[in-house]
Amino acid sequence: MADPNSPARITTRTLQKRRDSGGKITMLTAYDFPTAKLLDEAGIDVLLVGDSLAMVVGGHETTLPVTMDQMLYHAEMVGRAANRSLVVVDLPFPDGQLGIEHSIRCGARVLKETRCHAVKLEGGAEQASRIAALVTAGIPVMAHVGLRPQNVFVDGGYRVQRDEAALVADAVAAEQSGAFAVLIECVPESVAQAIDDAVTVPTIGIGAGRVTTGQVLVTHDLIGLTSGYTPKFVRTFASVGETIRSAAESFQKAVDDGSFPGADETFQ
Ligand code: KIV
Repeated sequence: MADPNSPARITTRTLQKRRDSGGKITMLTAYDFPTAKLLDEAGIDVLLVGDSLAMVVGGHETTLPVTMDQMLYHAEMVGRAANRSLVVVDLPFPDGQLGIEHSIRCGARVLKETRCHAVKLEGGAEQASRIAALVTAGIPVMAHVGLRPQNVFVDGGYRVQRDEAALVADAVAAEQSGAFAVLIECVPESVAQAIDDAVTVPTIGIGAGRVTTGQVLVTHDLIGLTSGYTPKFVRTFASVGETIRSAAESFQKAVDDGSFPGADETFQ
């Protein structure tokens, strides 16, 4: 584990300095050791062990099924792989909604058991006392406002969030409660601008346009390793799904036609 005081380690202070100096922040999801190692080496500032794990890796339709123990299992792999990146772990449903003491216990498990550095919590104004309690306990919090996937059934689906006044109030409450950053999901760019203008902590957008301090994407979307719908805000930077399919088809063919294994791949 890299020394948290090492100048190489990205910390909450690094992110604040980045915002203050007009710099950018990159954040990508990671759920396993090899992917986290590649993203860390590529210079990604923040790795997110997102509860999107439930959908992306688990094949579920929502983020709701993933458990705290499953999050910790994946967070430990990512925390061990990250030498430079700050690693943030989602508090899954309902661990970020139950009693505040319960959330502190979950956040403490993240810091004690996984080598990760912070938690992410969906919600703003109504989560203010929870954010304050976590931060007081020594657990850094990234707030998540805008589209909140854990609210999917209350919202009746995944929808662009447009209530500017409420969203600004959420972000301001999160900052005032001690959140070190605010993630903004699926809002019009003008709303993201209003939020960014209203807070002084870094803002990190997904489907929030060009005005936030940083950008976050789900890595599987970024690399083209999805099995279904790709949201409008995603840019696919690689076709890893096609590469895996093609490698598997080549393996199938080589076994069928007897060309694998060859002499070089065989012990004598
Ligand atoms: O869980 C997750 O991957 C997230 C992203 C959508 C930012 O919260």
